[in-house]
Amino acid sequence: MININITEKKHTDVVFIDNVSQISETCAELSGKKVAVLAPESQSKNAAALINALKNGGAAAYLYKLPDGEECKTIENALKLSAFLDENMFGRSDMILNLGGGTVCDLGGFVASIYKRGILYYNIPTTLLCAVDACIGGKTAVDCNGKKNHWGTFYQPEKVCIIGDIIKSLPDELIDAGKSEIVKYAVIDEDFYEYLSELPIKNFTTELTTIIQKCLRIKGRFVELDERDRGARHALNAGHTIAHAIEAQSDFSIDHATAVMLGLITETNIAYKSGFIGQNRFERLTKLYRKYFGDYAELSLDEIENLVPFMQSDKKNQNGKICFVLPCEHSVKSVMIDDIKSILI
Ligand code: GLY
Repeated sequence: MININITEKKHTDVVFIDNVSQISETCAELSGKKVAVLAPESQSKNAAALINALKNGGAAAYLYKLPDGEECKTIENALKLSAFLDENMFGRSDMILNLGGGTVCDLGGFVASIYKRGILYYNIPTTLLCAVDACIGGKTAVDCNGKKNHWGTFYQPEKVCIIGDIIKSLPDELIDAGKSEIVKYAVIDEDFYEYLSELPIKNFTTELTTIIQKCLRIKGRFVELDERDRGARHALNAGHTIAHAIEAQSDFSIDHATAVMLGLITETNIAYKSGFIGQNRFERLTKLYRKYFGDYAELSLDEIENLVPFMQSDKKNQNGKICFVLPCEHSVKSVMIDDIKSILI
């Protein structure tokens, strides 16, 4: 027998800097490299400043503009980006730098993972949602055959830079869009629950950098345990079985933040009604939801039942049972459920 032991040492460095101009010191290793900066139209100003800073630091920086929105996450755009890298003679020691939200990081990470069998990539998140979730963990993807994230790889970013000035200038709607994922981490992690429940709501915006650090530490623990999402990492999908079904049913006209909010609320009700959590934990979670989500209307039993067909295609399901990641007393746990209605009535 021939035994080939393959181990690849992988890590992602997450660095926190104040502004784009500090990139040349923080990423001095980019000097002498070609760097393709991927950025959506809405990030043109930050992209120009970033290109300038990279050039000052001795890198050869190239701007690759994308339209805003999930629609750009296609295999056609992956091929176009790959052609751009070829035209500019990017080699295996050159790299991609994603400046954007989850869409840009997913697409750029996907191309980085396949171009010449893999080149390095960095992420600079420009949305709160991306800063607390997609910027680490290495899930890369394009949408395909009408399915979200249908083609993808696990391929870790070499570095993630959280830039204070970008985070501080986020508009209110992008801050709101990150809240549900942040609250999700409080369902998973008791210490973070305590932190969020004690944080005065008026300080939420000023504390964003600390919040991002805490969320990335929690996510990082699960990614270290289970990079390929075969078990432990499923915890990060708390609230998401319902959320993904809501998004699919609405043909993605309901945004991810609203869907995750409704997912967390509904899945907490399921956990309570099935005896998975007691009254105390139920009330503590509900109190946090009211604090961060304000007044909300819960889904009716009919609305939940209508979501069932959309839950049936979830990758985590087994033997016809739907996989939920429900709150348990101190964190969350995967549970297979075959008849949601009997639990809720
Ligand atoms: N967004 C969940 C994960 O990265 O596994």
